[in-house]
Amino acid sequence: MVKNKNNKAIWGTRIKKDTSSIFKKVGSSIDVDKRLFREDIEGSIVHVEMLFKQKIISFKIKNKIVWGLNKIRNEILKKKFIFNSNLEDIHMNIENRLFEIIGEEAGYVHTGRSRNDQVVTDFKIWLRNSTTEIIKQLNDLIKIIIKDAEKNVETIMPGFTHLKNAQPISYAHYLLAYVEMFKRDKKRFANNLESLSENPLGVAALAGTSFNIDRNYTSKKLKFKNPTNNSIDTVSDRDFVLDFLYSVSVCSVHISRLAEEFIIWNSDAFRLIKLNDKIVTGSSIMPQKKNPDPLEYLRGKTGKSFGNLFSMLTILKGLPLSYFKDLQDDKELVFNSFDQIKNSILIIIEILKNYSANKKRMNELANIGYTTSTDLADHIVKYYNLPFRKSYQITSKIVNYAESKKLKLEDLSLKELKKIEPKLNEDILKVFDLKNSIKSKKSYGGTSFENIKKMIKKYKKESK
Ligand code: ARG
Repeated sequence: MVKNKNNKAIWGTRIKKDTSSIFKKVGSSIDVDKRLFREDIEGSIVHVEMLFKQKIISFKIKNKIVWGLNKIRNEILKKKFIFNSNLEDIHMNIENRLFEIIGEEAGYVHTGRSRNDQVVTDFKIWLRNSTTEIIKQLNDLIKIIIKDAEKNVETIMPGFTHLKNAQPISYAHYLLAYVEMFKRDKKRFANNLESLSENPLGVAALAGTSFNIDRNYTSKKLKFKNPTNNSIDTVSDRDFVLDFLYSVSVCSVHISRLAEEFIIWNSDAFRLIKLNDKIVTGSSIMPQKKNPDPLEYLRGKTGKSFGNLFSMLTILKGLPLSYFKDLQDDKELVFNSFDQIKNSILIIIEILKNYSANKKRMNELANIGYTTSTDLADHIVKYYNLPFRKSYQITSKIVNYAESKKLKLEDLSLKELKKIEPKLNEDILKVFDLKNSIKSKKSYGGTSFENIKKMIKKYKKESK
């Protein structure tokens, strides 16, 4: 039960019995929402400054409250503050301590405000800061990938479709695909800042307040663009929570896809990359093993991100307006998703710094599976004046023949090729070269070395 300095429950005059201990225990959120202490104190200070400016409280009381709140912040920072689960949440813990420090006048702090607008205000400020932190981290990640791409412009590997060798590509081009994905993540998080820019403070429980408050003033002081427009929506709205959880989920998907590819490529069957000892773990029984545990961690954690998003969607589905206790779980979900994505980005950065591409093996693999067949088909269209479907057929026959002889395309003689299609000439032989194949993919966004170099320049400028 929440008690003030006189040791009387805040709602004790109305509610005669102490809350059941089981509900007190499970209904308390202090272990989770104490992370909001900075934002809660900041919000309260701005609130009382506004109350003073509007002549709702005196200068003396405002100063006393601000002094008390600053003292509480210091106590928490110095770990001298005792969080009490009987006091339910961070708001009540701070208010109660304010009573202990400055006495009865602490009671003015909650004038024209409710915990319902208080908690959303704290939460939005927290999310704004945390979102900015993730955006910065994503930028660091992008820079690391660009650096890796720069070293691998001419590293040739097979591009896969259906995990079957498809066409030769530059490894840098593959890496830059992830730059695009993380750039979209950055943008998604940045867009969320827009919905976090409306100030909930001052809508009170759900109806607004009869006090002559100035919500534009608190908006400015708390770095919001403007006050929210509808008091009922304000205390009910958790769309900004969904936006965040969704953005984390999508970013987790990207990290997980990269993790999965690296797991496959690091396997003994593929050997396209090698993880150094910093990012593998051993086996308790098989002495030879070096397992890609950190990558598996990243892939696995995606499940938790989705779970958090779906929990929040489910909490909101069918919830009438306005505030209900159901909403209290929003913070646990967001804090968990935040911690997870922050760690995941740090881990993927660490992995990218501690692995190497097996260029020899990449090249070897690009030579298997007739990866230049499409180049051959294109060449026949361009230089033999045939429709693509016809050249596709001729090329298929050539591939079938090579496969039956266990030969690569470049091992076929002109004589053998002519047997299949008499029109073919010597010029056909140069299309089987992997480098030529890559160089020829000059269409915008394609894998040609030239394109990649231009893209790297562009990305570098953007991520400065
Ligand atoms: N701890 C609560 C939460 O996080 C704060 C809002 C409480 N409001 C109320 N009317 N019980 O949701």
